[in-house]
Amino acid sequence: MSTAAIVPAAGSGVRLGADRPKALVPLAGEPLVVHALRALRTSEVVDRIVVVAPPTELDEMQAALPNPWHGWVHVVAGGAVRQASVAAGLEALSDDHELVLVHDAARALVPPAVVTRVVDALLAGAPAVIPVVPVSDTVKRVRDGRVLDTVDRASLYAVQTPQGFRRDVLATVHATTTESDATDDAGLVERAGGEVCVVDGDAEAFKITSPLDLRLAEALLSSRRH
Ligand code: CTP
Ligand code: MG
Repeated sequence: MSTAAIVPAAGSGVRLGADRPKALVPLAGEPLVVHALRALRTSEVVDRIVVVAPPTELDEMQAALPNPWHGWVHVVAGGAVRQASVAAGLEALSDDHELVLVHDAARALVPPAVVTRVVDALLAGAPAVIPVVPVSDTVKRVRDGRVLDTVDRASLYAVQTPQGFRRDVLATVHATTTESDATDDAGLVERAGGEVCVVDGDAEAFKITSPLDLRLAEALLSSRRH
């Protein structure tokens, strides 16, 4: 079965506070998005990529991609919210892919093994798959400066990307959803009553959101290189 990946990279990165959109911020000398694409490439399970870029940065995004990837990666313009960007990516996919991954450019250092686990679960028949990691902090519900209660941690997992879908499943929820506030695509499948399976994620697939995350990513890359 053929697998495509949509890489939402159209966010501005307000919380990172850099001088350019987050996906184009350099990490060890290369834009974040290039690291994310390399992880997908190294997994050897992704046949085609659509990178969804800020509409004002299409040329910059294209120029950031290594030449040998030009036939493999296609760049399109994103929307105002993440869900609109994923929808734009879906729109741009050719018909010949039965499986679709959605992978945030911001999870630039995802280990390729996570990508493979997601695709393997799809190939085994799951309609939607997400990588998760157990929550390690104690979590409390707070209102107006006071603790309401402590949430039982045993059933709590943090969700990563790539999230994987049978293409028809993802296309249907995107075509029928009216809300635009979802921060992940599996959430749309859940709301529509669909089944979402989990596989093991990896702490190294953390999302680069803040300046501290960027420093952690630099340190992780340099430890991988030594
Ligand atoms: N994204 C996107 N289109 C948007 C908003 C976000 O493609 N309109 C992408 C981002 O580029 C990122 C992923 O969705 O790869 C996850 O979003 P987030 O980490 O929140 O990135 P930003 O929205 O860029 O950051 P911030 O919320 O701090 O502005
Ligand atoms: Mg955001």
